[in-house]
Amino acid sequence: MSRIVIVGGHGKVALLLAPILAARGDEVVSLIRDPGQSADVARTGAAPLALSVETASTAELVSAFDGADAVVWSAGAGGKGGPGRTDAVDRVAAIRSMEAALQAGVPRYVMVSWNGSFGDDPVPADHPLHAYAKAKIAADRYLQSTGLAWTILGPGTLTADEPTGRIAVGRPSQGADGPARTSRANVAEVVAAVLADASTAGKVIPFQDGPTPIAEAVARVGTEFSDLSGSRLA
Ligand SMILES: NC(=O)c1ccc[n+]([C@@H]2O[C@H](COP(=O)([O-])OP(=O)(O)OC[C@H]3O[C@@H](n4cnc5c(N)ncnc54)[C@H](OP(=O)(O)O)[C@@H]3O)[C@@H](O)[C@H]2O)c1
Repeated sequence: MSRIVIVGGHGKVALLLAPILAARGDEVVSLIRDPGQSADVARTGAAPLALSVETASTAELVSAFDGADAVVWSAGAGGKGGPGRTDAVDRVAAIRSMEAALQAGVPRYVMVSWNGSFGDDPVPADHPLHAYAKAKIAADRYLQSTGLAWTILGPGTLTADEPTGRIAVGRPSQGADGPARTSRANVAEVVAAVLADASTAGKVIPFQDGPTPIAEAVARVGTEFSDLSGSRLA
């Protein structure tokens, strides 16, 4: 049994992840912003803890992470509140949570990022995802610089599709494939799989829905995507 803290515990991915972890016997604590979300979170088998990561101090986060075996970051501003809030949540608060995990002695950190998080200028300045892309690449690179046993997950465009339990690992091709559809339920299963597979530490795993069983896909991936400086391996 592991004690896992999910940051962004009322998010759509998090609400799918908590029951998977609880069912396998993990103790799950879900950090939420709004105490009114507590009942929803409790129904997933997780213990809700109201603490906004945007305003929480590092010390408050250290306390929330105390005794945890892993932190999963699945929070995000979701574009609400403009570029300033995106930076405050997706970069500043994420980095603060990494510092808190280090101070709390949490060994493992899994980041839910996205499949475009690589390169120095991930999307053009006039693109709606510009602030998000800048914040995520900064947080992902910071995580790589910590001593945490990190795994960075890069799903494609998230959908509400049923889980298939199968994915394809790789950066999005720039061709005519359309958006790299990735069901949130599959993302939740990928998070659970990497938490159970220590060999995924130190790896960036970009993925979308595909043909390979999740446990097999994450066990097979190497470090070919872990250089976020700009390679476009597909
Ligand atoms: N959308 C996509 O297509 C896409 C693609 C690839 C990757 N991703 C990444 O996947 C992540 C998870 O996706 P999702 O669909 O589960 O997102 P989501 O439903 O928007 O969940 C994000 C959660 O973060 C929480 N949050 C925001 N600010 C917070 C704060 N200050 N303190 C604590 N919690 C806070 C939100 O809480 P509230 O409910 O209180 O706002 C929300 O519950 C996203 O954040 C994004 O980085 C998204």
